Amino acid sequence: MKIIIYASQYGSTKQYADELSKRTGIETVEYTEITDINQYDTIVYLGPLYAGSIMGLKKTLNKIRNVQDKKLIVGTVGLADPNDKKNREEIMNGIKQQVHGCIYNKARVYFLRGAIDYSNLNLKHKTMMAFIHRKVKGMKEEEKTAEINAVIETYGKNVSYIDFDALNPIIDEIQ
Ligand SMILES: Cc1cc2nc3c(=O)[nH]c(=O)nc-3n(C[C@H](O)[C@H](O)[C@H](O)COP(=O)(O)O)c2cc1C
Repeated sequence: MKIIIYASQYGSTKQYADELSKRTGIETVEYTEITDINQYDTIVYLGPLYAGSIMGLKKTLNKIRNVQDKKLIVGTVGLADPNDKKNREEIMNGIKQQVHGCIYNKARVYFLRGAIDYSNLNLKHKTMMAFIHRKVKGMKEEEKTAEINAVIETYGKNVSYIDFDALNPIIDEIQ
């Protein structure tokens, strides 16, 4: 049995999950609703990045037993450019800190790009972004990471980098 589990605060990861479900016929479930993850042999987890951590990942994947027998696919959704090698390395480090070693080793990880709408952000997130933006906007070009560039590029705006074609490698991996 296959399942797509997702976490999403503002809906962009849910959009990826719904599209993946449409294209594969696999059911989706929000991470807070999953009861027995061990009944599935193919698990796709899609989660957004918040301050370097993937929402819901730790809580959900660390419940998996016999991970060797399963196909495990993780799709991360963030604003920073996933073509940037350093960004990908940082995301992998984040995953390593969140899940058990055997799960980290087994997971095939794909990097998707998300969206942000500042008019929709809650007060806590708006405040965090204002703080980060103030800190990074004056930085020298060579000091800026993909993450910082994404904050500067999108600050205060409604921007979407959602690209459903980025799901194709995940679909190939599932099959
Ligand atoms: C407070 C905050 C922290 C974020 N941290 C990161 C991050 O560390 N790396 C990244 O690439 N994107 C980061 N983002 C962007 C989100 O990952 C992006 O907006 C994503 O599409 C949100 O997914 P959702 O709509 O499913 O909640 C952050 C956004 C907010 C508001």
